[in-house]
Amino acid sequence: MAVSQQVFLRDAMRRLNLTRDVFAARIGVKRRALDTWLLPEGSQEARNMPEVVSRFVTEIVENSALMEKYAQSAQSGPLRDRIAADSKHQLLSVDQFTRESVEELFRVADLMQPIARRQKVSRVLEGAVLGNLFFEASTRTRVSFGAAFCRLGGSVCDTTGFTFSSMAKGESIYDTSRVMSGYVDAMVIRHPEKGSVAEFAAATNIPVVNGGDGAGEHPSQALLDLYTILTEFSRLGKLLDGAHIVMAGDLKYGRTVHSLIKLLALYRGMKFTLVSPPGLEMPDYLLEKAGKNGHVIEQTHDLAAGLKGADVIYATRVQKERFAGENLEGYTADFQVNRALVDACCGPDVIVMHPLPRDSREGAHDLSTDLNHDSRLAIFRQADNGIPVRMAIFAVLLGVEGLVQHSLRDVTWTPPSHIGPDDSVFHGMY
Ligand code: NCD
Repeated sequence: MAVSQQVFLRDAMRRLNLTRDVFAARIGVKRRALDTWLLPEGSQEARNMPEVVSRFVTEIVENSALMEKYAQSAQSGPLRDRIAADSKHQLLSVDQFTRESVEELFRVADLMQPIARRQKVSRVLEGAVLGNLFFEASTRTRVSFGAAFCRLGGSVCDTTGFTFSSMAKGESIYDTSRVMSGYVDAMVIRHPEKGSVAEFAAATNIPVVNGGDGAGEHPSQALLDLYTILTEFSRLGKLLDGAHIVMAGDLKYGRTVHSLIKLLALYRGMKFTLVSPPGLEMPDYLLEKAGKNGHVIEQTHDLAAGLKGADVIYATRVQKERFAGENLEGYTADFQVNRALVDACCGPDVIVMHPLPRDSREGAHDLSTDLNHDSRLAIFRQADNGIPVRMAIFAVLLGVEGLVQHSLRDVTWTPPSHIGPDDSVFHGMY
């Protein structure tokens, strides 16, 4: 088996969307036996699973994937036509997704993992050029969109900030967008005004991805956040349906939480606890949307109370750059998610997330660095997931996802086994 036994089994459970108990029953083995196969290789209790079980699991996973694919393509056609109903193949909002289409996109992201982990290369987007137009501050979104396009064999042209763009000379969004369409094959746009990326998109027929429009949406971030939650839950043997998600921080201006709560609401029986300083609560239109379908939403200003029983803590930065009269320098100390609080309020299998950047300046009281060596902190695994998810977005919007599998070649260089000094193999978990 190319991947380790644990990775293989966890991946199978995630694809089938089954808990450990149900999965053990499905493959006809005792839960205890499954547990020993899932232990890290070096540990005393670890056992090798019999070859026949591995073949059986492969068969079940392949069958279920095939059934799903047939069922979907019979009624639905290519994924990009389902994500973008018009013929323009643009990704502007998470409202474009259903639970089925989001999970289909994640199967494409899974396909990209060997490339994202630097084991394989692909050139399916050879010759294509991406225009990365960022009119607002960004590091990871801009670079990861660019890197994702490059890792599929494409090239990237960048522009950053207003100062060096023709918008500083008074050019309209329509003109900029139309002109860029003559130069590139897809655009990612970040702009400080809500709704502005949709305006760019209306002025072109090439694929446009919203890289963040003011306090509006950040669909690719929410997609990689959801992908991270599903991956982490699969490792922990948990299901997302019925989970308790705590979102903490500036929920008024934080666009990542605006997109994420809508995506999570596609699942069943969710509990959302929204913790924000007074005045920075989640907007009503989102509460209304997320409150449909029987989800429970609780709002509080008390972080410790809100964190009780959380499966996921999603902390966010104060979005000071979008303040309109609010008077707040940073979070107060009692608002900081830190190790003591997580230990006191949550179990050993909670995951702590943050879209990043976290504000590390004194007095900001953003997510504490004292969790840095704690495996519950998923922020770097989360940021790493930006690559396979953004590769999947491009592959789907440009219609090449079916070519990826057969295009893979081995890398010619030797990447480090741990990309960060604190990561152990496979994102710090073993
Ligand atoms: C976020 C953003 O720009 O909305 N960052 C990101 O894209 N990962 C969050 C933030 O800036 O706080």
